[in-house]
Amino acid sequence: MIENLAKWVGSHSPAASDNVILWSAADCERERKEHERTEIRQREELARLRALLRQKEDLIEQQDLARKESEHRLLNDLQVVKSLLALQGRASGNAVVVSQLAVAASRVVTIERIHRRLHSYDGAQRIASKRYLDDLCRDFSTLFCEDQTRQQVISVEGIEAELPAVTGISLGFIVNELITNAIKYGNGRIMVSLEPHTGGGYALSVSNDGQALQEGFEPAASKGLGMKIVRSFVEKIDGELRVGLGDNGQGTRFTVLFQ
Ligand SMILES: Nc1ncnc2c1ncn2[C@@H]1O[C@H](COP(=O)(O)OP(=O)(O)OP(=O)(O)O)[C@@H](O)[C@H]1O
Ligand SMILES: [Mg+2]
Repeated sequence: MIENLAKWVGSHSPAASDNVILWSAADCERERKEHERTEIRQREELARLRALLRQKEDLIEQQDLARKESEHRLLNDLQVVKSLLALQGRASGNAVVVSQLAVAASRVVTIERIHRRLHSYDGAQRIASKRYLDDLCRDFSTLFCEDQTRQQVISVEGIEAELPAVTGISLGFIVNELITNAIKYGNGRIMVSLEPHTGGGYALSVSNDGQALQEGFEPAASKGLGMKIVRSFVEKIDGELRVGLGDNGQGTRFTVLFQ
């Protein structure tokens, strides 16, 4: 049969000078086997890649679970720290110690609030700034609504920007201290805004009605812990802190420039 085929091929062959490639039956068989081998190799490679993908998905799921667990533990631990500070304050019987520990406890609550917010975004690496600031300020307003004597309103304005979650944590602490001061030293409206900055990057500002800062106020020279916290987080995001007057040349405005 192969001989007949070879003869047929021979009798139907164009002259060698025609530059045509001739295939014998043996060549065809070799080609078929090579195809078979390639197909088997490809199937094995596909199975290997599928197994790798499954492993990767399992790993991501495990890491996600571990992250959720550790965040949950962190929130629980912060609750414990807050309770311990309150307990220690009550036990001291000293009014100054009680009030200092109450301030410390409220800062622990801030850490918890920021992490709870970030936790609610389900571990996203980037956060939508407007939603985040809205959420933080709503938390604040809820806290201050409990204090019926407070008449301050916090509003959030500005653009929506996608910021790294790590920057969001620093901004959360900065906004927390600046709003706390705006509530403490200002009165009326408190405005939080995030705008693009003309020199590139963003400008986050917290302004309030009420008394202006003292002439020549220098955050670095301030004895308060609030300014120290603000400055350390501004440094962390390679930002710049500016102070000035609020809207219409009234009240106070703190601005943080960052990339
Ligand atoms: N929004 C503001 N309006 C007017 N004055 C302000 C405002 N924010 C800060 N200040 C002034 O700056 C000072 C330093 O603020 P900082 O937050 O560092 O300290 P504090 O609020 O006095 O104490 P702490 O924050 O440690 O509880 C304040 O004591 C206040 O005189
Ligand atoms: Mg303060």
